[in-house]
Amino acid sequence: MTTAFPVLLGAYEPTTTAHEPAATADGTAATADGTAATAGEILDRCRELVRPVLAETIGRLHPWVGEMAAYSFGWCDVGGTPAEGAGGKGVRQALAVLCAEAAGASGEAAVAGAVAVELVHTFSLLHDDIMDGDQTRRTRPTVWKAYGTGPAVLAGDALFALAVEALAAVPGAGAAAGVRRLSVALGDLVRGQADDLLFESRPWTGPEAVGPEEYRRMAEHKTGALLGCAAALGAALAGAPENTAATLDRAGRHMGVAFQVADDLLGIWGDPAVTGKPVHRDLRQRKKTFPVLVALSARGPGASAAGQLATLLAESPDAPDDATTRRAADLVERAGGRSAALAEADRHIDAVERCLDGLPLAPRASAELRTLLGFLARRDI
Ligand code: IPE
Ligand code: MG
Ligand code: MG
Repeated sequence: MTTAFPVLLGAYEPTTTAHEPAATADGTAATADGTAATAGEILDRCRELVRPVLAETIGRLHPWVGEMAAYSFGWCDVGGTPAEGAGGKGVRQALAVLCAEAAGASGEAAVAGAVAVELVHTFSLLHDDIMDGDQTRRTRPTVWKAYGTGPAVLAGDALFALAVEALAAVPGAGAAAGVRRLSVALGDLVRGQADDLLFESRPWTGPEAVGPEEYRRMAEHKTGALLGCAAALGAALAGAPENTAATLDRAGRHMGVAFQVADDLLGIWGDPAVTGKPVHRDLRQRKKTFPVLVALSARGPGASAAGQLATLLAESPDAPDDATTRRAADLVERAGGRSAALAEADRHIDAVERCLDGLPLAPRASAELRTLLGFLARRDI
């Protein structure tokens, strides 16, 4: 085993030159050359701001555990050889940074919160891949597949503990409030994950079937709670009043539902060349996604397709063939599941916009938050 310390401590160089974004006269997000910053540029800028502290934090871990952590951030291969390019987008850290800036502070104010939410997100993915039995993430073997289940559980635990430590080290009253906020989000994340797991064994139809409202709650908890926490933490660490933090928390929760529903649409109709996942993947895995659940509950013109879909799902085996998944996708669409899911995602995007509109936010950061929202919630549906 080689240690991951060269990756974590000495060798970090930003992969691109950080730019200092400027505000345009109309308040839209802009780069130094005056053009609006893209979501990719916003994410890069925030990642570069946070990464040195994230790397230093992970560098405090036992070397083996640190290597697993660095592997899951895409910073090294199995064995600790430095690598780049297989990391996550860093949406949560970006939300924390942008919300600090939106509250009128420098993004630096949010770095401890950004580190904490990225660590928790990564911890939740390590454990989620074990729960889901998924063997690959971001085109590489998952941590449990590469290092073993026990070590992956341990690495997840370590990241969780580090997240709490990172927040607890914030000077002043921000620490206790931050840890409290993170704990609430974690409780909700566990609640959402529990519902998600239990949904697998629920029937498609009848009184025990999963309804769209239950799905919304699951998605808010599983995905929205941490996004909301990231946004609220960033603002709170920047000294924003509690009602601003609470509104940003709500915005993040809506963002989570929009993201999850958009992800469901991609899981059925996404272009494999763009998503990197096989077409109709979620139908093949018989996942209880929003478009399917809402299609099954269709009344009126969609009711006949809903009935046929229910029969197909009841009769199809655990691993349906291509013809069956194609027919299921068609029936979901005819029962109105696709358009209802698009409308649902839009409804939550609108709710985020309303939250942001109601707050006195710094124009550039507010524009960048909206750019990020657009990126998160659509993704080539
Ligand atoms: C992961 O949920 C969310 C959490 C870890 C809380 P999913 O299982 O739906 O997401 P992917 O497809 O593995 O990323
Ligand atoms: Mg999963
Ligand atoms: Mg899961």
